Amino acid sequence: MVVKVYKDAAAIGAAAGMVFASQVITKPDSVLGLATGSTPIPTYKFMIKAYEDGIVDYSKVTTFNLDEYVGLGHEHDQSYYYFMHDNLFNYINVPEESINVLSGTAADPDKECAEYEARIDAAGGIDLQILGIGRNGHIAFNEPADDFADKTHKVALTESTIEANKRFFASADDVPRYAVSMGIGSIMRAKKIILIATGADKADAIYALVKGGVTPQCPASILRMHSDVTIFCDEAAYSKCK
Ligand code: F6R
Repeated sequence: MVVKVYKDAAAIGAAAGMVFASQVITKPDSVLGLATGSTPIPTYKFMIKAYEDGIVDYSKVTTFNLDEYVGLGHEHDQSYYYFMHDNLFNYINVPEESINVLSGTAADPDKECAEYEARIDAAGGIDLQILGIGRNGHIAFNEPADDFADKTHKVALTESTIEANKRFFASADDVPRYAVSMGIGSIMRAKKIILIATGADKADAIYALVKGGVTPQCPASILRMHSDVTIFCDEAAYSKCK
């Protein structure tokens, strides 16, 4: 695992954005694993600029997002489908039919999860996966637990995640209680992974990831077992590791 420390979120956006640009330039039909949340927004801005400047062509790319809230449809402005279009897909030339986001309104979430996993396999697996990290060490919606979940599955959100995400909703009561999420195994099968973290509120999670042992109590810690992982942190997120 390589750890790179940058001054701030903008520098991380440029560094992570460059990784995506080189991935797509060297393999135009890349399969990209994408995340929502505040942290990847500067990375997505860099990816959009690379498209606008004619440097990167996303027309052959396929994307898979990590997760979606159960109960929110595409039109809901807090759905991850909406977020991805609002922050990336509406501004680049990835075809809509090449975009994969788990459905939060599927009648049978377990079937939706199994089909999503099969779609990732059929696409040849994920070439490059970007991850954020929760304050509790979660990746995607894989929360601290007694075991690492392998495949895409339905999860109950923890109080800490509901608390962290309530800023996007009218109140904590409006935050969905369940999500569908790629599993730890689905993430670990990506060929290359970058995890980005900014701000002092991620310092404990980054400390556990970088200095701690591999434990499902810090789901991100499994990344230590992957052969091609780079962590991009700003100084605040890295502060407890010094
Ligand atoms: C988002 C996701 C989450 C976030 C994490 C950090 O698709 O899977 O694990 O990456 O909660 O969120 P931010 O970036 O908002 O701090």
